Amino acid sequence: MTTAGPVDLAALGEEFVRDPFPVYAALRARGPVHRVRVPEGHEAWLVVGYEAARAALADPRLAKSWERASPTLSLVRPAAGPNMLNSDPPDHGRLRKLVAREFTPRRVGQLAPRVEEITETLLDAMLARPDGRADLVEALSVPLSMAVICELLGVPTLDRAAFRTWSTDLFSHPDPVARSTAGRQLSDYLARLLDDKRRAPDGGLMSALIRAVDDDGDRLGPEELIGTAWLLLVAGYETTANLISSGVLALLTHPAQLASLRADMTLIDGAVEEMLRYDGPVEAATYRFTTESVDIGGTVIPGGGELVLVVVADADRDPERFPDPDRFDIRRPAQGHLAFGHGIHYCLGAPLARAEARIAVRALLRRCPGLALDTRPEAVRWRLGMLVHGPRQLPVRWA
Ligand code: HEM
Repeated sequence: MTTAGPVDLAALGEEFVRDPFPVYAALRARGPVHRVRVPEGHEAWLVVGYEAARAALADPRLAKSWERASPTLSLVRPAAGPNMLNSDPPDHGRLRKLVAREFTPRRVGQLAPRVEEITETLLDAMLARPDGRADLVEALSVPLSMAVICELLGVPTLDRAAFRTWSTDLFSHPDPVARSTAGRQLSDYLARLLDDKRRAPDGGLMSALIRAVDDDGDRLGPEELIGTAWLLLVAGYETTANLISSGVLALLTHPAQLASLRADMTLIDGAVEEMLRYDGPVEAATYRFTTESVDIGGTVIPGGGELVLVVVADADRDPERFPDPDRFDIRRPAQGHLAFGHGIHYCLGAPLARAEARIAVRALLRRCPGLALDTRPEAVRWRLGMLVHGPRQLPVRWA
């Protein structure tokens, strides 16, 4: 890497997709802000390191609304309706408040027994395989997280195969037009589903959001409802699946840590925090755009809608914040990691995601005493794209 011109992350190929951490660490050693060309092809300002990333996530001069993006950026805008994650204050506050009223700890708590049931059913099917081998992504991580988000929203009839394709393409398809098409198809699908819910309301979150009215009589408009359902589905499915897959991979490649957890399952909460810190599902936070020039560690990012990517994966491997950061240690105090973001856009689904991961990992270890990786760790293929990080397949065996 040279210091002249943008750092070309696109040229690093598959190795960067598999293991981006050393690349970010090398950049961090030179400073917190870098001009880069990302694998998707466009240029961006990259923020690395814990302090800079945390500050940037909470900086009101880095806006989330696409109206703030410079017209010179050749980005394909995702076809999501307005929602809290693509809004800035004051819209952000009202959109988040209306959802938070309904997406309560009580609702998440009520879901926990269903998460347990779904997990057991999936493990029954997996363990019935005569060869004692499976791809854990297909057998557990993806179907569990998808079933849970569908139950939460009240989407029993969702076409899961189509939904999965849209969602995967949206994050990881190499072609920006395909990414955008997938987003639009998902929006169209949700618009039809919301119509059904208006006609026949049920106990799910989608029906609750249609009815939700705040103290001032405010409610979500039709486009906001589509945007919000879109956000909850997309934000809640792929991320949680990746947490389960990456977390299990970390355990299987660190036998002493796995043995500690098996010997004392009360360590599970800390283990999940460490999984989030060590290899969380979000590599870089969603796009931010400068509303004015911003000085980070002596580098000035110009105003006028420049694209900024905050690399939370690097923040959580910063030795200034987490000593010996490349060591996976389920007993370390991992709290304070940025895997769920920071500031006003802090993940609304964090309690649900944590609950799912705990339940899934606990049940998997209990039911598979001999669980092992069924491939070399270097042979695991990873999802494309800089926003999410997680295995595409995770071959395991247990016999
Ligand atoms: C392990 C799983 C998850 C991870 C790592 C994760 C991570 C994140 C991160 C990093 C952000 C902030 C993005 C940014 O500032 O650019 C975020 C926002 C959000 N997440 Fe999650 N998430 C997970 C699961 C979920 C689930 C299960 C749901 C809902 C069912 C959810 C709903 C949301 C929502 C609604 C926002 C936007 C909050 C706002 O803009 O105010 N997430 N998530």
